Amino acid sequence: MSDKVVLAYSGGLDTSVAIKWLADKYDMEVIALTADIGGVGDLPAIQQKALKVGAVKALTLDTKELFVDSFVFPALQADALYEGQYPLATALGRPLMAKLLVDAARSEGAIAVAHGSTGKGNDQVRFDVSIVALAPELRIVAPAREWGMTREETIAYAEGHGIPVPITAASPYSIDENLWGRSIECGVLEDPWAEPPEEIFAWTKSPATTPDVPDYAEIGFEKGIPISLDGKKLDGVALIQQLNELAGKHGVGRIDHVESRLVGIKSREIYEAPAATVLLKAHQALEAMTLSRHQLRFKEKVASEYADIIYNGLWFTALRQDLAAYVESSQRHVVGTVKVKLFKGNCSVVGRKSPASLYDYSLATYDKGDVFDQQASPGFIHIWGLPVKIQARVQGSGNRDMNKKKPKDELDT
Ligand code: ARG
Repeated sequence: MSDKVVLAYSGGLDTSVAIKWLADKYDMEVIALTADIGGVGDLPAIQQKALKVGAVKALTLDTKELFVDSFVFPALQADALYEGQYPLATALGRPLMAKLLVDAARSEGAIAVAHGSTGKGNDQVRFDVSIVALAPELRIVAPAREWGMTREETIAYAEGHGIPVPITAASPYSIDENLWGRSIECGVLEDPWAEPPEEIFAWTKSPATTPDVPDYAEIGFEKGIPISLDGKKLDGVALIQQLNELAGKHGVGRIDHVESRLVGIKSREIYEAPAATVLLKAHQALEAMTLSRHQLRFKEKVASEYADIIYNGLWFTALRQDLAAYVESSQRHVVGTVKVKLFKGNCSVVGRKSPASLYDYSLATYDKGDVFDQQASPGFIHIWGLPVKIQARVQGSGNRDMNKKKPKDELDT
């Protein structure tokens, strides 16, 4: 009996070719595993295709809830945005896929797992590092990284082996999607000067064609996790799906990012992430109201560290767990409701309220009822400004340099 390998199977061209290639090259029995985290199409059809192409078994799983509860919401609580732009949809999906591959390999008695990533992206790193963390005994095979076939060669291989080539294979774009967002690269997008053509977008309308009246949404949070939409309690999956729909209709969540890949190159990626855009904004607005300035400051550092960890394939690490514990603790008073307005490609926060709000009207108002003690301010400012005054007296304030006219050639350097 040949050895078994569990392959992460999407139903697309590359992973279909991988089934055949693994069976031929390594003489392995291929078990295809397809997990629905919000991006796959018709699961039964994908399962049929896997078997037709040569898999000995085709497993399908709906893991949307696990994805949202264990990956997406912790990242939302952390305000994780890679390089301040990318909400990390693809990057969050990979460690979950790795876990599912490992679980399946163990229950099926496989000696190896396989995935469809190429050798120059981030995804290979996320898969491989997560797999070694979870199951160092498993062998990892990445057919697309090994075979080095071009798009045309892959199509030719498929045709030569009776593998149906989907019409989407003719598309020049590489697309990955799950509930948290849709990632699009390749084709004309590889020219960072070229404006993304309208045809690449599937979740968001062009702001030129969106409704002329805004929609409002009220998002309720508990412990930093969204739990309701317009007063109606919803589970995380349904809430994200509804927000993707509503915000997408208004063209919210298009992101054009020239990003720094872990493997050292810059790449241009377009993202559509309507729900992620809205939820990250709303969550931050609620934190602004319920966390102290010091908590916000520190949390910003944690957010960028957390985003890097996710992007760089380090989900299953001690540091990620430690930061997650901090983030979870930081969310204990992040409760309340945020009102957003969706209009012509923009999501603006237009209202927020919270039972744990640190905003105190009687302290903030300039009207009658002001209880802020203005007479206490001069004393506070005297001490606050003391080190500034002393340092300026001894070492100067920088004012003189500003007034000094520099010769022109000095200005240019
Ligand atoms: N650049 C993104 C990341 O590293 C997305 C990668 C997958 N993108 C794609 N279009 N297939 O997470």
